[in-house]
Amino acid sequence: MAETPPTIAELRDAAITRLRAAHDLPSTREWYREFLGDQGSVSALFREIGALPGDRRRAFGIAVNALKAELASALAERQSHLETCALDARIQAEQIDVTLPGRPVNRGFLHPTTRIIREICEIFGKMGFQTVEGPEVEYAKYNFDMLNIPADHPARDVWDTFHVVSEEDNIVLRTHTSPMQVRTMLQQQPPVRVVVPGRCYRFEATDATHLAMFYQVEGLAVGEGITLADLKGTLTEFARQMFGAERKTRFRCDFFPFVEPGVDFAIDCPQCGGKGCRLCKQTGWIELLGAGMVHPHVLEMVGYDTTKYTGFAFGMGPERLMLLKYGLDDIRDFYKNDTRWLRQMDQAWL
Ligand code: FA5
Repeated sequence: MAETPPTIAELRDAAITRLRAAHDLPSTREWYREFLGDQGSVSALFREIGALPGDRRRAFGIAVNALKAELASALAERQSHLETCALDARIQAEQIDVTLPGRPVNRGFLHPTTRIIREICEIFGKMGFQTVEGPEVEYAKYNFDMLNIPADHPARDVWDTFHVVSEEDNIVLRTHTSPMQVRTMLQQQPPVRVVVPGRCYRFEATDATHLAMFYQVEGLAVGEGITLADLKGTLTEFARQMFGAERKTRFRCDFFPFVEPGVDFAIDCPQCGGKGCRLCKQTGWIELLGAGMVHPHVLEMVGYDTTKYTGFAFGMGPERLMLLKYGLDDIRDFYKNDTRWLRQMDQAWL
């Protein structure tokens, strides 16, 4: 037996039931295709109208139109309800608790070498020294010759120096910041007062107090009437600002080819006050740097009038200075990139 088509009332009930079961917008669009779309069941009813006898046609047409209007309005209502529900769910999901404490920001900080160099340059800055920088790849002429270090000097030995191309090319990684003494004096006439921070390189085995790449801060003052007393006064003032106002200082003879006389500069041990401890190796003194009066031959080589001008120079290693200031036991820690160690240094800063 052929299936009888649903009556308008049955179709309406089926459509309304299905619409209630549509729980999201895609399902309502599917529902639309099934009932109100061109190929949908309601459109099929419209197509039947023409085939009906005249007396039934009008009433059927009115009923089908009413059904279409009712279903269209039910659909609009359902879709609007589902949209509201979806929006509510999204608002619920995206809600943030503004009373929760924020996540702490991990703030960066300066590397201890940068920090100590800035402190050193600031102390000398207050005494009138300008900070300048120079090349790390340097001519042997400036690194050695013009500093009174002749070709047969042990410091020029291939074991100490990194040659950039070959030994004959005479281009080296500077072994100290002293070549900037020469460059500065070639560029300007006295009075000169500069400090020069920068990297230096030596071809040597690393250990607890030696690095192959380390920093130095050079100092140079040239002018009329500068004496060893000025050198002593300047370095003593530096040591007191860096290590405490109560520091005692010691100057002893030392040799560097580019100064005459040469001195090594020491302070009484800040840890034991000079009594003797592990830090000062029981001597009571801590050697800080090398210094001296600029050798007249060096002044002559840059064209300065040695009857008029004298000067002093010094060179210190900021990492070694930090070892002494903080009682650290391994210089290699500076460049291991262990951020826990670096942060500790930052927090312990005096
Ligand atoms: C010099 O390099 C001289 N140019 C210093 C100077 C300048 C003397 C001006 C007189 C006048 P020295 O080789 O001692 O001197 O090095 C100076 C400082 O650099 C040392 O005291 C030390 O603190 C640091 N230093 C030297 N070699 C190393 C190294 N391998 N690792 C870490 N620090 C070093």
